[in-house]
Amino acid sequence: MEDRKGAPAARTPKTVLLGVTGCIAAYKSCEIVRGLQKRGYRVKVMMTEHAAEFVGPVTFRSLTHEEVSIGLFDHPSDPIHHISLAEEADLILLAPLTANVMAKMACGIADDLFTTTLLAATCPVLIAPAMNVHMWQAAATQENLARLRNRGVAVVEPATGHLACGYDGQGKLAAVEDIVERACEMLEEESLLAGRRVLVTAGPTHEPIDAVRYIANRSSGKMGYALARAARLMGAEVTLVSGPSALSDPQGVRTVRVTTAQEMLAAAEDAFATADLAICAAAVADYTPAHPAGHKLKKTEEHLDHVELVETTDILRRLSEYKGRRIVVGFAAETDNVVSYARDKLARKGCDAIVANDVSAADSTFGSDTNRIRWITADVEKDFPLMSKDRTARAILHEAAALLARTA
Ligand code: CTP
Repeated sequence: MEDRKGAPAARTPKTVLLGVTGCIAAYKSCEIVRGLQKRGYRVKVMMTEHAAEFVGPVTFRSLTHEEVSIGLFDHPSDPIHHISLAEEADLILLAPLTANVMAKMACGIADDLFTTTLLAATCPVLIAPAMNVHMWQAAATQENLARLRNRGVAVVEPATGHLACGYDGQGKLAAVEDIVERACEMLEEESLLAGRRVLVTAGPTHEPIDAVRYIANRSSGKMGYALARAARLMGAEVTLVSGPSALSDPQGVRTVRVTTAQEMLAAAEDAFATADLAICAAAVADYTPAHPAGHKLKKTEEHLDHVELVETTDILRRLSEYKGRRIVVGFAAETDNVVSYARDKLARKGCDAIVANDVSAADSTFGSDTNRIRWITADVEKDFPLMSKDRTARAILHEAAALLARTA
């Protein structure tokens, strides 16, 4: 086995627990084993009974030189095998993952060795689903996927092409090299922010006009939530201060729900007191009604044609004023003059970096799942291609971690 790039020769290799489920793509798991071993990782395999119908355990035993785990009661010498398997893993990679096992994971069902191990696992989990296109598109599957993502499970989505069942569409197991690459990235990143405390602000704020009306904006919170999840996967202790968002609290992240800019400021300052890094991704309202009414205003009796506004506190600027050695990163979501406005914000707000993004483009707007950003600091500017918000979050955190390392 080769040594991992840059790792000292004597270092114990990290362990990947590869979970194989019953799918025709199970034969590709053999290449995944090889790919991970070539990158210097130890691989152990667990299989569902259905997976063993497609590829025999002997194949994996020969490839890994390790026992292959299938049945809950197959290891009498290790009576709680599902716990020891889960504890041994630095990363669990499920490839291919069927719709059925994905659904069990999403519900926390633990009725065999495979799913019991998953429920007991505390390490990062990466899934590479593969199934028929209609099974992939089914509302149940997509809901399960969203639940898993929200819990911090990383996903290499199926590829589109000709499927074993005869259909054309999305459902093919992603390319082996993409799965191996993502697994290696996760293993290399998992301690990037270890011991760091990270604050992320996310979502819009709602500024009340009266008891039923408010001023808001189109922010979905997706970018901030992706940042919180990614920072967690990189080993940070994360506080997410979120304005009203339909997204669920990411697992393992302390989430503080707020409504107004004033509440967001208080919660952000509270978390910032012990933070090493703050990323202000929230679309905070710049103005709030000066005199919100406690009752519903009546259009016939009261003056709804004019709402007096006062400026809110700029949280990013406030944190930057007294940040000291802490790193503070802001966002500049613009529709025009993106870069010059972003540079101006960097100077005006006194933060360490600004993430500029053009929200006039359909693929990087509020609510979309992708983003195209430019990272701007006083001495570096870097463009990133169009990427998923998860990948964008990881790119931002790599840049921020480099700034943190400089202050250490
Ligand atoms: N921000 C903040 N508190 C505010 C307003 C903005 O923390 N009250 C932060 C946002 O989270 C973001 C950055 O400031 O990181 C830029 O927000 P943006 O709304 O683009 O900037 P503004 O200063 O409001 O400038 P403008 O609306 O004129 O573009």
